Amino acid sequence: MKNKESVDIKKSGRDAFARVGGALRRPFSYLETFISDAGVAAIHPSSKYLVARVVRAVLECGPCAIVEFGAAEGNMTKKILKGLPQNGTLAAIERNADFYKSLVEIRDARLRTACGDVRDMKNILGAMGVGKADCFVSGIPFSFLSPAERSALIHEVYCRLPRGGRFVAYQCTTHLIPLLRRQFQQLKVELELRNMPPHFVFTAVKK
Ligand SMILES: C[S@@+](CC[C@H](N)C(=O)[O-])C[C@H]1O[C@@H](n2cnc3c(N)ncnc32)[C@H](O)[C@@H]1O
Repeated sequence: MKNKESVDIKKSGRDAFARVGGALRRPFSYLETFISDAGVAAIHPSSKYLVARVVRAVLECGPCAIVEFGAAEGNMTKKILKGLPQNGTLAAIERNADFYKSLVEIRDARLRTACGDVRDMKNILGAMGVGKADCFVSGIPFSFLSPAERSALIHEVYCRLPRGGRFVAYQCTTHLIPLLRRQFQQLKVELELRNMPPHFVFTAVKK
């Protein structure tokens, strides 16, 4: 009995350390990932205010099929899943392999994930069995893409949306605005200050 008690105490001590360690490591996981991969383009996840604003823009069109670009560890992904109908699907693409390990830990039958670069969207979505989607949401840094890659990506998104479908992008610069205005028939621009750095949220609608 005494032995069992001491084993239990040791085990719960180890578990507690693991929990504290995990909790302490998490705030730095973005920073660590950013140091080894600047393409992550953020040193922390989006704030709850930015997440709420983006998720509202995504869900207000009542989408059934959503594609997410740059899902990272799934911060935004989890919140989108909360508002997605039971028969809905969310295809999340993330390029960074470390973030992707966390993304695949999200247990939800509606979620499909792929580790890859959205510039290869045709092949990635093809392999996931996704054709069209009601909404694309993107946190990837478009400034890291060449002008030709940006145009091609936005054109591909537009072609995969039905009328009324939307592309929601959150960025810290406004350089996407002319491109979105050229491709889409309606554009709403919001600014969320409660994020470091403040971010614009673009909601572009296909009419
Ligand atoms: C600003 S972070 C996204 C933050 C996260 N969605 C959130 O709200 O907390 C941008 C993410 O996009 C990913 N990313 C950047 N370029 C990408 C690309 N070309 N294809 C796929 N993912 C990309 C980065 O690895 C990073 O995880």
